[in-house]
Amino acid sequence: MFFTPEKFERLIKILVVDDDVIIRESISEILKEEGYAVETAENGKEALEKFDKFKPDIIITDFVMPEMDGITLCKILKNNPETIDTGIILITGVNDLETRIKGLSAGADDFLSKPIMIPELKARIRSLSKVKFYHDFLKDYQKRLEEEVERKSAQLLKANLELQIALSEIKELSLEIIFRLAKAAEYRDEHTGYHIQRVSHYCVAIGTHLGLDNEALEVLKYASPLHDIGKLGIPDAILLKPGALTKEEWEIMKLHTIIGAQILSGSKIRYLKAAEKIALYHHEKWDGTGYPEGLKGEKIPLFARITAIADVFDALTTDRPYRKALSVEDALQIIKNERGSHFDPQIVDIFFKIKEEILSIKELFKDETEIPHLFKLKNLLSQKS
Ligand SMILES: [Fe+2]
Ligand SMILES: [Fe+2]
Repeated sequence: MFFTPEKFERLIKILVVDDDVIIRESISEILKEEGYAVETAENGKEALEKFDKFKPDIIITDFVMPEMDGITLCKILKNNPETIDTGIILITGVNDLETRIKGLSAGADDFLSKPIMIPELKARIRSLSKVKFYHDFLKDYQKRLEEEVERKSAQLLKANLELQIALSEIKELSLEIIFRLAKAAEYRDEHTGYHIQRVSHYCVAIGTHLGLDNEALEVLKYASPLHDIGKLGIPDAILLKPGALTKEEWEIMKLHTIIGAQILSGSKIRYLKAAEKIALYHHEKWDGTGYPEGLKGEKIPLFARITAIADVFDALTTDRPYRKALSVEDALQIIKNERGSHFDPQIVDIFFKIKEEILSIKELFKDETEIPHLFKLKNLLSQKS
């Protein structure tokens, strides 16, 4: 709430400083009758002592006083940022030009001549109280403004923080859904619990040594597990068939690449855009004999070339319903043999270079227990019936 100058005038506190008790008390009485809060002091020293407690808006002070005169008092108050806005009226003799000049240079705001005329005293107080009002108003306004800016900045900072948390939660949720979706697709025909995690980490390890930046590595990490999402569209009779597939069945099986790409197509999310390409091309071969398009060499997207080697290595080194896992050495030999035919030779070289890292990922995501899966359940049911 702000006061108008008129209202403020009534709340003004005035300190009257004079060593002449008659002048001091008569000025004090007049001002009290006007409704001001008044305090008195005998000299500048006492005025300073009373200042902190009384906090006057205006000081009316005599010029000559024992202990500390009016000019010194004026200088001290006007040199202190805390008290600089106090209005100071210096009482001087009539036509005492020298004292007035001294008073002005000490920072006095106004002058009263002896003998003091009551109407003049009231008029001077009124005009100084207005000045004091505007000083205080501006000071208060600036303070409020600063506080408001500080408050808004804090609000903005908090909102920004909340937004960051919400965004990271959304990202975490999206990535978890991607992982679970990939798991759902693999669950139908793979019984290797951590297959998608291993593939994902193998891909990141290869990508790191290929010099991919962090953003690309993150995309690869979350897109590669979706490579076989298209298996969701392959009939159980083919996907879960225990024996070898016929030529026709194999052609249908190959469609999981196209189905996967269709499931993921049209997304604006960079993870899913990359996953679409990986799903479509992870069975392409470096020499052009893969499917579905028979792409050759670097025409096959890099992420698909990386995922291909990670996926094959993991498939070879884990138990399958129809065969036991190969040893790491045998699996590596197969990959070596396929260098330049199935796999990108540069990626094979990197794979061998980071062999230890690959093996520690394999160890970290070891499948401790077998997860019951549809293939096994189906076999069990058919045995019982
Ligand atoms: Fe596949
Ligand atoms: Fe796979």
